[in-house]
Formats: sequence, structure tokens, C-alpha cells
Amino acid sequence: MSVSSDQQVLVAAQGTAPTTHTQLALWVQEVAALTQPDSVYWVDGSREENDRLAAELVAGGTFTPLNQELFPHSFAAFSDPKDVARVEERTFICSKEEKDAGFTNNWMDPAEMKAILTDRFSGSMRGRTMYVIPFVMGPLDAEEPQYGVEITDSAYVVVSMRIMARIGTEVLRKMEAEHAFFVPALHSVGAPLEPGQADVPWPCNDEKWIVHFPEERSIWSYGSGYGGNALLGKKCYALRIASVIARDEGWLAEHMLLLKLTSPEGKAYNVAAAFPSACGKTNLALLTPTIEGWKAETLGDDINWMRIGKEGELRGVNPEYGLFGVAPGTGWSTNPNAMRAIAKGNSVFTNVALTDDGGVWWEGMTDEVPAHLTDWQGNDWTPESGRPAAHPNSRFCTPISQVDMLAPEYYSPDGVEIHAILFGGRRKTTIPLVAEARSWTNGIFMGATLSSETTAAAAGAVGVVRRDPMAMLPFMGYNAGDYLNHWDSIAAKANPERLPKIFLVNWFRRTPEGGFAWPGFGDNSRVLKWAIERIEGKADAVETPIGFVPTGDSIDLTGLEDFTPADVEVAVRVDREEWKAELASIEEWFASFGEALPQSLKDELAGLEERLGA
Ligand code: GDP
Ligand code: PGA
Ligand code: MN
Ligand code: MN
Repeated sequence: MSVSSDQQVLVAAQGTAPTTHTQLALWVQEVAALTQPDSVYWVDGSREENDRLAAELVAGGTFTPLNQELFPHSFAAFSDPKDVARVEERTFICSKEEKDAGFTNNWMDPAEMKAILTDRFSGSMRGRTMYVIPFVMGPLDAEEPQYGVEITDSAYVVVSMRIMARIGTEVLRKMEAEHAFFVPALHSVGAPLEPGQADVPWPCNDEKWIVHFPEERSIWSYGSGYGGNALLGKKCYALRIASVIARDEGWLAEHMLLLKLTSPEGKAYNVAAAFPSACGKTNLALLTPTIEGWKAETLGDDINWMRIGKEGELRGVNPEYGLFGVAPGTGWSTNPNAMRAIAKGNSVFTNVALTDDGGVWWEGMTDEVPAHLTDWQGNDWTPESGRPAAHPNSRFCTPISQVDMLAPEYYSPDGVEIHAILFGGRRKTTIPLVAEARSWTNGIFMGATLSSETTAAAAGAVGVVRRDPMAMLPFMGYNAGDYLNHWDSIAAKANPERLPKIFLVNWFRRTPEGGFAWPGFGDNSRVLKWAIERIEGKADAVETPIGFVPTGDSIDLTGLEDFTPADVEVAVRVDREEWKAELASIEEWFASFGEALPQSLKDELAGLEERLGA
């Protein structure tokens, strides 16, 4: 390996810079001078390039090639055990003023933060290649394509970004032609190599920084190789930075799946649903309806950019290009559509287990548990081992184009009209299977007070109930009070006749006996059918203090064995005592906003209090 001097690096960057985009050329040059990589490489996004990088990752021990017959062109990667999830404690919104980050975000003065990061990035790519990845979030033929450029020293990131976003030369050329603005997204694993020093399969740094500069619309991510921390088009750009752009421009960047449903009468409805990480978005987005005559098509599984259309309707677009799904629980019985997409290959698996025939496995993938596996940490595993074989936050990364049920509108830059919005979380108690909001504002209240038990998708304790407004707690790029005010302002910009109906859902409620109160997965189509019939004014409901819930027999249970209208009543029960406790917790949550909380939500809370007789 040749070690370049700083000067040679600069020459290389200039010499090879295949761009006429001055700001980009300057930024690449500046980053190369700071991080001092061995070489600078411009990613073209081609298949040949991808194969070459994958081969290098195999040679370096990062990728384990899988059995080509089972999973063509697919690889497994195993992370450092300390780098397995998003790190919310290490995620910062460095707005100029602290109040613009708000109480839900970590904040530091931007100049102070830049000084720290400049120090950490200084020489951080030594001994490595610096990859420049031009990308666009959403279709390249959008009216205003949302460009970004990620600079990274990780080939794993390049290969994964190629699945998750539209990348490469075509994007770069259009960006140049338009002299377009791009979000500069800088990433380093923070593990420089000294001359002669051998690399490790998963380089990273114990110190991690996931930092956003909202006014500058820039991202600096240091120390982690994990998806949500390192694939910067996803959470960092399409949610945190985009939410700020959306606030400024009057639209919404949301943590939502998008699903198209067609009724037996041939009427299409598009449903957007916000659930926190690892609470069922990817599964609902790839739903197989268990009721006759209903058709489901996928539009998106994690991010939804919503704008007001020409007729005042709310329209949604999925800015991503792939699925980055939770592996455990994704199986042939629960989610065959995801399994079929994965089985087509071209996928990267991270922290799953390996089967003896060179395939992958995770908890819930098949009903039958293999007798022997190599677990995600490389140890022998048998069903008697008493520990999961795959990490609970292990992931599959697969092109969305491989989803057979992908809706053709996925490719449309104008997106689709949204007819219903669901807010959901993972709650063992209190929250009914489904409740329809009393009004649009009441629906925003449902979103603003959304709560969920924490999951393995973020580092930290699992199973702790926390408020997660619109499932955006870790992703709001600005003040949470301003965020709720922004939601509150949308109705005034929209056609009131075309506003979607809003529903609260909870697939994870337990019965007093401890089991799930609802079968979930494909059977969630029954809940969606009820919601659509509410839009059509057809289904029955009971009014409760928190909203309208289905009557026992208004949910279609055809073909569902051992589940009766009485069980529906258990699943949708609104228990006054539980709700009084919930109310206290909502009051506490709202108090933390101080004056920033919209009056409309204070009124909603007062209304709920009154209806509960509290
Ligand atoms: P996402 O991270 O929000 O996209 O959530 P996923 O769809 O990947 O699901 C996360 C976890 O929740 C997986 O282990 C799923 O098996 C599980 N899950 C998803 N939908 C349901 C459901 O309807 N019922 C139950 N009980 N579990 C579900
Ligand atoms: P998820 O996406 O919502 O599918 O879990 C990743 C994440 O939120 O970290
Ligand atoms: Mn997510
Ligand atoms: Mn998901």
C-alpha cells in the first residue's frame, strides 16, 4: 500500500475530480485535506464498481459471501458488538440557537461542535480510500431533486448506499447541469490506519458523533458504521435535515410507511403510517391482506415526504430506494413479500446468523429453528444456547424494486394522495387496537402524544415507555414545539375536504393473560378495511373519550379462527382507569413544551380530560 503525502492527496482530488460543480469540487478538496485519505474515489454507481467493492470487502473480512443459489449477489456483515444501532445520546442538532434544537434534541454551539469535529476528522481517513457518493433522495426527475453527496471512508457504506438511495454519475451530471444545491454529508468510521497497520473487519470508534447543522443543511457523522448512523441519506438527511427544509418550505418529512390499498370495488386508498423504529412499518408496508378481494401495494416503508398538491390534497413520496428492515420477526409466515424480495438477492445482511449451507437465518425467519448456526458474533449456536442467534436489531438491506407488490406510483415524482394517516406504537396496555380521531386536530393530538416502548433499534434500555411525537422523537431536526406548530399549520394550507382521516393503532396490546390481543401482520388488513370503511361512512363505531373504536362485529373476522367479536372488544377497550394514568403522563409531556405547545393541542387535552371526567 502506498502512503500519500497531504500534497499528493490534494493533487489526486483535483486531478480526478470528475465534476464541474465548483462547490462540490471545493468541498471534496477541503475534506481530503482535512481527513488525509490515501486516495479519493468518485462513486459511479455501476454494477461493476459494486462488484469490485464487494470483492474488496470480502477480501478484507467485512463481507461473508453467501451461498449464491440461496441468496445471489448477497453478503453478510458483522459489526463491532458496540456498533449495532442508532446512538441517540450521541446525536446532535447544532442550530445556531439552542432554542431551535429544543428540549428533545442534544445541542451544542455550532462553532464549538465544528472545532471538536475538525479535530476528530483530522487525519481520520489516513490509510483508507475516501469515497465520494453523489445521491438524490426521491426521483431524479422530481421538480426539485433533493441532492446530497456523502463522503465516506467505508466501502460497506458505499455498497449499502447504492441499495438505499439513487446514487452515481447520472445524479452527479444532473446536479452539475442545474448547479444544484446538495446536502454535504461527511462520514468517517474514525479508524485511521498507520502505515503497515492491518485493518479490522468492522472499523469504528468508541467515540461517536452524529451531528446535523440545520441552517447549513450539513451532516457530520463520526465513529459508527451502523446504517442509521452512517448511511446519511436516510435518517440524517431524509428525516432530520429534510424536516427543517420542510418546515421552511411548508411541507412534512415524516417517519412513515406508505401503502396503497385497493378495495374489492376497485377503489384505491393510500395510507401513511408513523410507528417508531421496530414497531411494524416495514411489515405493514409489505402486507399480505388476509381478507378476500383486498389488494395491497408497497410505496415506502420508512420515510414519507408530504406536500400539499394542486387541489389542496396531501401527497406523499418515498425518498428512499431500498428497504433497511429489521430481520428478526420477518419470516415466511409473517411477511412472505419481504422474504421474496430478499430471496432475489442483491442484499446486505448485518448482524444476522449464518446457516451451515451458507445462508442467513434470524429468529422468526422460519418456523423450524436450524439445529446449528453461527451466531452474529461468530460463535457456534444451537437452539439450546439460550441466546438469540441474530442480533435483535439485525437488518436486511434490499432494493425496493425487488418487492413484487411495489406500486407503480412509487416511481412517480408527484407521489400519491394520502387518504388516511395512522399513528401507532408498541404498548402492552391502554392504547386500543385502533381508534379513529374525532377530527384532524384530534388526530394531531394523537400523533403529538404518541408513545411506545423502546426497542433495540436504538442503543439503550428496551421496553421503556416514552412519548414519541409522530414517531419522530429521534428525527426532528428542530424544536419539537415548532414541529407540532408546523403540523398544526398544515390544515390551513390544505383543502379541508381532502384532509386524510387520522387513526391511532396498536398492534402490540396484550390480553390480561399476557398474549397479543390481536394476531397482527397480514390480519392488520382487517383493521385497515375498517378504517377505509369509516372513510366511506360504512363501518360501525363506538364513541369513547379518546375517539371512535370499532364495535365487536364491525371488524371483518372472516377466516380468522378462534377470534371472536368479544376478542375485538378486548383489543379495542378504552379503560378509564388506565386512561387517567395516561392523562397524567400526557400532561407531564405537554408541560415540558412550556409555551411552545400549540393552543389547539392544549384545547384537545382539556377536551380529553373533560370526557374522561378527570
Ligand atoms: P419497523 O422498524 O417499524 O419497520 O418495524 P418492522 O416491520 O421491521 O417490525 C419490527 C418488529 O415488530 C419485527 O420483529 C416484527 O416481526 C414485529 N411486528 C411487526 N408487525 C407486527 C404485528 O402486527 N404484530 C406483532 N405482534 N409484531 C409485529
Ligand atoms: P426502522 O428504521 O424504523 O425500520 O427501524 C431504522 C431506524 O429507525 O433506525
Ligand atoms: Mn425508521
Ligand atoms: Mn423498517
